[in-house]
Amino acid sequence: MDRMTEILCRIDDVLKCPRCDLSLSRTNVVIGSGPLDARIMLIGEAPGRNEDKQGKPFVGAAGKVLNLVLESAGIRRDDVYIANVVKCRPPENRVPKKDEIEACSVYLKKQLEVISPKVVVLLGKTAAESYLGRKVVMGEEHGKPFKHEDRTVVITYHPAAIIYNRKLKDALESDFKVIRKAALE
Ligand code: URA
Repeated sequence: MDRMTEILCRIDDVLKCPRCDLSLSRTNVVIGSGPLDARIMLIGEAPGRNEDKQGKPFVGAAGKVLNLVLESAGIRRDDVYIANVVKCRPPENRVPKKDEIEACSVYLKKQLEVISPKVVVLLGKTAAESYLGRKVVMGEEHGKPFKHEDRTVVITYHPAAIIYNRKLKDALESDFKVIRKAALE
């Protein structure tokens, strides 16, 4: 068991978490990956099929895109902490429901407290809207660092969006360059 899992287990037995119905269909609880002293923390939406199988975040198709984008910005994946809004895969990869996000929020809050990152990166609309508690217009708000509750936050596209719309690749790459710069400031 890694250190973050141990810490979340102090809240309750997170690997057997029954807080919402996603627990009924999951294979693994996907806590997150990366060093606890990371300057950058990425927050995705939810585990997909591969993540559910392996118990690790962003190891499928979206993870491949993420790896390329990180590399193009000069950020080492091993240096960032990666988590999701919900830790269990929604059936058929549907968007997590409000009550599921709420039920899981104790874990994400604790992860943010432990990592205390210099920059929080919100990958996609679900992560951005649930973290900020408001509607987000991705086209207008991505790639612009701002302060939210004493943390520097950057909203960007979800890596999976690039698989369906190649035009977003440049935007995602340039957002990650902004993220790198914000982390070094
Ligand atoms: N999409 C996400 O939002 N998170 C993952 O871990 C994988 C795909």
